[in-house]
Amino acid sequence: MKIVVFVSGRGSNLRAILDSRELKGKIEVKAVFSDRENCKAFRIAENNSINTYTLGENPGQTGYKNLSHVLNQLNIELIVLAGFLKLIPDEIVKKYKNKIINLHPALLPSFSGKGMYGIHVHEAVFNSSVKVSGATVHFVDSTYDTGKIIVQKCVDISDVNSPEEIAQRVLKVEHQLLPFVIGKFADKKIEVINNRVVILE
Ligand code: GAR
Repeated sequence: MKIVVFVSGRGSNLRAILDSRELKGKIEVKAVFSDRENCKAFRIAENNSINTYTLGENPGQTGYKNLSHVLNQLNIELIVLAGFLKLIPDEIVKKYKNKIINLHPALLPSFSGKGMYGIHVHEAVFNSSVKVSGATVHFVDSTYDTGKIIVQKCVDISDVNSPEEIAQRVLKVEHQLLPFVIGKFADKKIEVINNRVVILE
């Protein structure tokens, strides 16, 4: 299965995808896209001989205008947002319905929406004093964090002392969850039945 990965930051989840043993031979990462020109994750892509594309900070920029064309040419089956902090343009969301997934570092629908990314999420989780957090992989629609949930995994945070500690525990789970979901897509084991996303055995 041909996929592309969108990133904005350090790219540890991109690395988890590329290093995943269960994904070896099942998927091919055709390109990595970022809104930022000097995105750290680009180094990981380049070290793996994967083409990188800079989209620009806002949707009016050239990178975004060419996006649909580039994706078409790559003939991809899945778009993975792994720490990508911008909205995907509506035309792409419509064209790739149920073929764009996002990783969120909390249990949606809580701790979500614009501005809720990275450490900000973990700070809000910490300050709310909830005892369980986790990671969510969901389909992408035209607003932040509202698409149907594909899979979630909980993490006990009842004994943590800082948002950073929550981030560390959740990240560990993210590195397993995202490759797992991508593998299920490659196996064609993900379907929407009765309005719910189901992972088939
Ligand atoms: C991950 O924790 C991901 O869940 C989060 O950004 C981090 C990227 O880390 N995404 C969001 O907050 C999206 N709302 P990485 O660059 O090391 O993969």
